[in-house]
Formats: sequence, C-alpha cells, structure tokens
Amino acid sequence: MSDKGLRDLARLARKARQRAHAPYSHFKVGAALRTTAGEVVTGCNIENSTYGLTLCAERVAVFKAVSEGLKRFDAIAVVADGKQLAAPCGPCRQILWEFCGDILVHMEDLKGQRRTLRMAELLPFPFDDKTL
Ligand code: THU
Repeated sequence: MSDKGLRDLARLARKARQRAHAPYSHFKVGAALRTTAGEVVTGCNIENSTYGLTLCAERVAVFKAVSEGLKRFDAIAVVADGKQLAAPCGPCRQILWEFCGDILVHMEDLKGQRRTLRMAELLPFPFDDKTL
C-alpha cells in the first residue's frame, strides 16, 4: 500500500477520532481499517464509567468490519495525539492478528509524527490458531 494510501486512511481515522467518547481519560483515538478491496471501516474509543468496559478504537473498527462480513484486510491507521505515537495496546494487537493477520499498522498524531509497522513487528511470536 502506497504512502499516499496510508495518509488517506489516517485522514479517515482522524475524522473517526472526533467521534471518540472519552470523558474519563480525555484521550481520543480513531482507527480506520482497510479491506483488500479498498473498503474502509472506522472506529473510535468508547469509554464507560466502569472503565473496564472501555472499547479501544482498533477493536471497534475490527468488530464492526467482521460483523459486516468483511474478511480480508491490508492496513489499519490509528490516530491519537499523546506525548508519543500511540501504538495499538496488547489486547488490540491480539485481536488485529486474529482477524487481520500481518497487516500494515500506520500510526499518526496531530503534530505530524507518523510511523508504519507490520503487525508481525508489533506482535512477534504470537499465540494463534497455529498454536492450537
Ligand atoms: N485506547 C485505544 O483506543 N486504543 C489503544 O490501542 C490504546 C488505548 C483508548 C482506550 C481509552 O479510552 C484511552 O485510549 C486511554 O487509554
């Protein structure tokens, strides 16, 4: 996927971030997951007063896509704006690996920092169906 394609995907993640429900952490995250056919499904983090029920932006995007019957993905963009670039958390890495495999993970913030890694770099030596 081209650099322009990843930047375009990040633009959609930035838009989704504006819909984040983050009244507790005030840390807004947006994600945009792309299928190999070019469809894009977005997600944002959705917090809850019980904290533990909070959903990360990446998992919202993955579960929305899977529930719509989408199966093959090639990239996800994640946009946040913290002290450093936000990489997917541990549970999100596991879910991304399970449903998306070794896709590109493109991270951006609002200050112009950006970085792209593969899932296999973020989750080396994974537990998955090959393990069972
Ligand atoms: N968050 C995400 O949406 N994605 C991640 O990968 C890390 C954390 C959200 C969860 C919570 O609403 C806020 O960021 C602070 O942890």
